[in-house]
Amino acid sequence: MRKPIIAGNWKMNKTLAEAKEFTLAVKDAIPSKDVVDSVIGSPALFLAPMNCKRKDSELQLAAQNCFWENEGAYTGETSPAALADMGIEYVIIGHSERREYFHETDEEINKKAKAIFANGMTPILCCGETLETYEAGKTAEWIEGQITADLKDLSAEQVSSMVIAYEPIWAIGTGKSADANIADEICGVVRKTVEKLYGNEVAEKVRIQYGGSVKPENIAEYMAKENVDGALVGGASLQPDSFLALLSAVK
Ligand code: 13P
Repeated sequence: MRKPIIAGNWKMNKTLAEAKEFTLAVKDAIPSKDVVDSVIGSPALFLAPMNCKRKDSELQLAAQNCFWENEGAYTGETSPAALADMGIEYVIIGHSERREYFHETDEEINKKAKAIFANGMTPILCCGETLETYEAGKTAEWIEGQITADLKDLSAEQVSSMVIAYEPIWAIGTGKSADANIADEICGVVRKTVEKLYGNEVAEKVRIQYGGSVKPENIAEYMAKENVDGALVGGASLQPDSFLALLSAVK
């Protein structure tokens, strides 16, 4: 039985005051980690203050990106070693916005995954296709290609413990969520790809999220599906009430 994982991805939203206020508003209402992993991926700027404010809470934190080296002359980058040292649990990598606007490649995403594991954190690896690919009926082969490249040379143990988020680009921030059956089918493609690369035991352990216009009103439909173990949520994770409502739907 895979433990559900609900992760908010705040993207580039909120001020410091708003991030602290959110943390204080939710920290005592987060369900037990034994039941569900509840994660907020905040801008890197707010991770340290949120880390202080979440003390004694079940709330976990994610960075939205990091570099693959731990230190050095890499102006503007975030060190995975520094994130781990602060106690940050997860790093989101390969989000379609980073692939599109910052031209991140599968090779770079793979290096980041290795660095995140080397520092004892868990990657949340995103994959997903454009509307064009979806309409051409090429989603499955696209997803298989991304996953195969992004997981290159990771161990079976690492892949068992990680999280993969399927986020169709056409469903992100559009209000046009993928039908739960489609989400289940493509999350199933992710699982089959893992099975092909690492075998059945690893494929049964890896946790797969759906992301794209998930809200409190529709999350239960996704969570009811066999291959969906959680959600990666943008807009609906920004307000405390809405984030807590997402968690209540699964606990
Ligand atoms: P929305 O939930 O706002 O569609 O964003 C999804 C997403 O990109 C999460 O990473």
